[in-house]
Amino acid sequence: MISNQPFSCPSQFGAAETGWFSDYPLALAPTLSSDPADRIIVALDGMAPEQALAFAAHVEGLRWVKVGLELFVQSGPQVVAQLREQGLRVFLDLKFHDIPATMAGACRRAAALGAELITVHACAGSEALQAAQAAAIEEAQGAGHPVPTLLAVTVLTSWDERRLQQQLAIGQGIGKRVPALAQLSVTAGIGGCVCSPLEASTLRAQYPQPFALVTPGIRPRGAAVGDQARVMGPAEAMAAGASQLVIGRPITKAEDPSTAFAACCAELS
Ligand code: C5P
Repeated sequence: MISNQPFSCPSQFGAAETGWFSDYPLALAPTLSSDPADRIIVALDGMAPEQALAFAAHVEGLRWVKVGLELFVQSGPQVVAQLREQGLRVFLDLKFHDIPATMAGACRRAAALGAELITVHACAGSEALQAAQAAAIEEAQGAGHPVPTLLAVTVLTSWDERRLQQQLAIGQGIGKRVPALAQLSVTAGIGGCVCSPLEASTLRAQYPQPFALVTPGIRPRGAAVGDQARVMGPAEAMAAGASQLVIGRPITKAEDPSTAFAACCAELS
């Protein structure tokens, strides 16, 4: 079994510059091979559970899949176990945001399922983030599962500054809010962030590898942009500092998903 490698925060990041301190939980990053297939996470959106399982089994060379709210709510947690039984590594994208005890409980259960990437909202606050990461580590180690990396969501790309101000009375611009929430997450011991590929280079400059930066909004050559407003190509996003890419419809809606997946991998070779 491939397991995540804990790394010590202060040796990876200068505590003074980044806020990592030795008494915070270990930060984690998934162990990835040099094969480009390890860098691409296919989002199983809009599929019924049996379709998702069949799709994942059918795409040649697929290693990582993302299970989001829609699939999870429809299928229940067993879809994660079933995908793992098919040899896939799972990004569980449920974007937890709750009180610390509930966040910890949810991340503990997600780790027990064998999810290796788990999203949490940074604005849950440092106590909740810390409790969630610690519970996930403890559960995975106890169960002999790979230790999951929690990924903080900073500002959803569906928000813009005008609406943040009007609806939530948040006056801080997105350009300041994203790094501030990333820093809050880092200080709490979270192992990575989900971000737009356009934010990746700024975050990567601040948080070197192995801090995980997972970016959706990726469009391979020739793919339709669809409803994604700010997109980047796979190679460009990796060069900007992404550690893994989330790609959905360019692969799931392709006439031949195996060919589309292979083309994405080829763009990274
Ligand atoms: O189909 P597409 O490649 O656009 O899928 C992108 C995936 O990434 C979807 O699961 C979507 O919910 C997710 N996502 C996103 N933008 C964000 C965060 C997540 O597109 N900012």
